[in-house]
Amino acid sequence: MRQKIVAGNWKMNNTYDQGLKLASEVIHMVQDEVKSDVKVIMCAPFIHLSGVSKLSQGVAQVHVGAQDCSAKEAGAYTGEVSASMLKSVGVSHVIIGHSERREYHAESNTLLTDKVKQALANGLTPIFCCGEPLEIREADQQNAYVKQQLTESLFDFSAEDIQKMIIAYEPIWAIGTGKTASSAQAQEIHLVVREHLAAQYGRDISDNISILYGGSCKPDNAHELFSQPDVDGGLIGGASLKSRDFVDIVKSF
Ligand code: 13P
Repeated sequence: MRQKIVAGNWKMNNTYDQGLKLASEVIHMVQDEVKSDVKVIMCAPFIHLSGVSKLSQGVAQVHVGAQDCSAKEAGAYTGEVSASMLKSVGVSHVIIGHSERREYHAESNTLLTDKVKQALANGLTPIFCCGEPLEIREADQQNAYVKQQLTESLFDFSAEDIQKMIIAYEPIWAIGTGKTASSAQAQEIHLVVREHLAAQYGRDISDNISILYGGSCKPDNAHELFSQPDVDGGLIGGASLKSRDFVDIVKSF
């Protein structure tokens, strides 16, 4: 059985106090309302992580994630935050290769390999993002595009390492636009991702890797998306900023 996961990506939102209030509401609602075995991850801005992690201590279902980490281990890299620093404040997961980082910070597939290496070396679970821009979707080239992202960033990792990762498929045209992929579109490309992983690492391994969908996932479309056989949960942006909406998505399986 693959792990069901709902991760919230807060992006650059909320002051410290607002973030802690949101986290506290989510933690309480999850404890009160979520009876399934879904794993909940809150990916907060760096400065919130220590506080969110203290709040979630002892709550087995709730985990704390960062939105990025440095590709370097330590040293003179002004402004960067290393994977070992994240680990030291109780972070367990880290988003790597979000399309906003790829676009606004020119993160390449090879740089992302180094970030994944740092995450794994420090015992963090990478949530590795892939997904195509609109023009690639319109040209019907999304399958090849996403396969190439995965091959170039991840396929030098061992079978043991790949099993420690979560993959998130996020079509760029669906992020923050209110235009979600249809459940059929999501299933189709999630299967492409799974088959691609199977071709490289074997079916047993690929069958156990959780693949999340991200892009305008909301309480009213989450159930339909999560019902698809190869959609194992979601990476939620806007709707993760409202505790009620986020927890309703967590309850959508
Ligand atoms: P939205 O849910 O706001 O579309 O964002 C998705 C996303 O980018 C999550 O990482």
